Amino acid sequence: MAQTKTPATATAPAKAPAKGAPQLGKASLKEVLAALTPEEKVQLVVGMGFYPAGFPPGMLPAGNPGDDKIPEKVPGAAGRSHAVPRLGIPLLTLSDGPAGVRIDAIRGKDSTKTYYATAFPVATLLASSWDTALVHKVGVAFGSEVRDFGIDVLLAPGMNIHRNPLGGRNFEYYSEDPVVAGHMAAAFVNGIESNGVGTSIKHFAVNNQEFNRMQLNSHVSERALREIYLRGFQIAVKTSQPWTVMSSYNKVNGTYTSESHDLLTTLLRQEWGFKGLVMTDWYGGHDAVAQLKAGNDLLMPGVYTQTQAILGALKSGALTPAQLDANVTRVLELVLKSPTFKGHKYTSQPALKADAAVARQAAAESMVLLRNEAGALPLAAGRKVALFGNASYNLIAGGTGSGDVNRAYTVSLAQGLASAGYTADARLSQGYAQHLRNEKAKLPKTRGLLDPAPVIPEMAAEALGLAQTAQAADVAVVTLGRSAGEGGDRQETDDFTLTAAEQALLKQVATAFHAQNKKVIVVINTGGVVEMASWRNQVDAILLAWQPGQEGGNAMADVLSGKTNPSGKLATTFPVAYKDVPYSTDYPGKLLDASAGGNSFMGKPSENTYQEGIYVGYRYYSTFKVKPAYEFGYGLSYTTFTYGKLKLSAPTLAGKITASIQVTNSGKVAGKEVAQLYVHAPTGALAKPEIELKAFAKTGLLAPGQSQTLTFTLTAADLASYNTATESWVADAGTYTVRVGASSLAIKEAATFQVPQAVTVEKSRKLLAPQAPITEMSAAAK
Ligand code: BGC
Repeated sequence: MAQTKTPATATAPAKAPAKGAPQLGKASLKEVLAALTPEEKVQLVVGMGFYPAGFPPGMLPAGNPGDDKIPEKVPGAAGRSHAVPRLGIPLLTLSDGPAGVRIDAIRGKDSTKTYYATAFPVATLLASSWDTALVHKVGVAFGSEVRDFGIDVLLAPGMNIHRNPLGGRNFEYYSEDPVVAGHMAAAFVNGIESNGVGTSIKHFAVNNQEFNRMQLNSHVSERALREIYLRGFQIAVKTSQPWTVMSSYNKVNGTYTSESHDLLTTLLRQEWGFKGLVMTDWYGGHDAVAQLKAGNDLLMPGVYTQTQAILGALKSGALTPAQLDANVTRVLELVLKSPTFKGHKYTSQPALKADAAVARQAAAESMVLLRNEAGALPLAAGRKVALFGNASYNLIAGGTGSGDVNRAYTVSLAQGLASAGYTADARLSQGYAQHLRNEKAKLPKTRGLLDPAPVIPEMAAEALGLAQTAQAADVAVVTLGRSAGEGGDRQETDDFTLTAAEQALLKQVATAFHAQNKKVIVVINTGGVVEMASWRNQVDAILLAWQPGQEGGNAMADVLSGKTNPSGKLATTFPVAYKDVPYSTDYPGKLLDASAGGNSFMGKPSENTYQEGIYVGYRYYSTFKVKPAYEFGYGLSYTTFTYGKLKLSAPTLAGKITASIQVTNSGKVAGKEVAQLYVHAPTGALAKPEIELKAFAKTGLLAPGQSQTLTFTLTAADLASYNTATESWVADAGTYTVRVGASSLAIKEAATFQVPQAVTVEKSRKLLAPQAPITEMSAAAK
């Protein structure tokens, strides 16, 4: 925000319902619009301000005077829109976030009644399920809590692309691939909205780092924008038509996304057919009037200077009444759909028990088994387990910032294993309990909203009496945890890589346990990618548990015990080293003016250039032949699968083509398999990546020997690339290779078909052009 001065005058108090005045829902929107005063219209497009704990006074710009005195319907919710009671327009309540309803659990001094919400697993985990039906089920449960707590719009899902493993909010996002992100988001939105509440897909768009996020200018080519950074949003809009979209903080090619008419109107509404409302991210952008003109209808959380600026622009003619009416209309359309408007009687008592069961199932079915030498897992029943690592006792359920959830409890792995009938080494458990108590006592009592959760250092392995412990236990389980969150990106050292203490712990536990022929299992409890190549050979099994939500320990035990056969696969690549990530040294961007004013929240002017273009994630690793530690789409099972012959419906694309393949469980226990369909497209006018994911499917639970045929449909639109020169999506003529695999590298079957003549799928307009030409890496130059 440009100005933050304290308001001088108070907003007019809401008038009582006026007799004879048109009422929303009864009168037409036109009549309601005609009855609204200009001041009321401006109120409707500016939210009611934000007064969170943890921000020093004056750090956040003030809302309209007096709004902070109006009691919140749902304390701790992130935002509210204004009411106009005389016309029957209620205020709406908006709440975070992607892993659970984020509201205050205790209201005022009364702690007898609590308002805990379920902490579901984070988005990175959900995407690893590759199971849209499961994600839909999570959405249905989650949305019931949104409804039961009296909230109108959930500020989720987050669906930015994992461009770089250090992105601080990657845990809130699904994947490095837009097809996965788009379909996961759509399933989630449809699940949430089936409860009669709204969602806000965010952050639209190119919000791939936290670094100076409110003043960052990202330079991206139109092709990379269209094919990578916007594509997932396009899929989500077309398949789920969410009630709202949240624009992002950053600029793209010189313009704040919230002020970009190209992005919010020409592309989102006119090209994609989005019918809902666009809101800003909290305090996002700079120019309130430009935001309204761009098609950003609601300014959140709402700042008094915005109210003044819009009123001024109305007076001067810089903003037309017709434009404001268009924005207000979309606010009113949202209000009309909302549970508050419909008079929904909410209980504030969601079905926490049932929802916890959904959270546990989703977590267990999405964890990724990365390594399992000589059948180290599953653990036989009743084993004595030596549990190492802080995170074994102190689960990291989710990330921090607006993606955090105030939950009633968190099940640790220690608790989960105990409930599953395993015995933990008591001396070790006591040692860790003491260590965690000591370390936690040193932490600050409260944390601000954007302060990352401090990581508690691991105990020195020497203190653990390893030889003796190894003798007494059947197996070692070491859990390593990572936390990240809004407001900052991760670090390469001691975050992407393991700390020296963690490395020592793994090494010494492995030495002590292997000396006695006992296995070492590592569980990784993280929201983002970590380095694995340097240490994985020391251990027998690795389970990537992600940040699995409040039921995490139970879900981990479900997988470790074999109660749930792991069926998750990576929706984001684990590179061997950070330097393998293209342009990693340039991430997250550079400061343009270190001397510029701006506090830590607002940041300073910065920029970054997406030189890798479309070569993000596996598109880069496969095209440039860089071998990752664990590739996109990878994940093991306790059973094995065989693939039958890949059959295409025709040798030539005629409108569409279907591919089918039979998957058989060839192992000894029941399991589910995720099959992925990649396409290698012919080089026409444009270079193409080696492979691009076009479709995916997960089998049901197959008993040993059981088969299922999976069918995928491709159209020219799925095959098209974006040609900037002709401003069109084109499926080039030539030979297309379809590859179906268990991962992006484990291709099982391939077949080809022809596109006899190039198909122009869609003509566009020149949009979002970079300010200056961007030199991108090219596949031709590899
Ligand atoms: C975050 C959004 C969030 C909003 C409201 C912002 O800081 O970027 O994701 O929805 O706050 O809490």
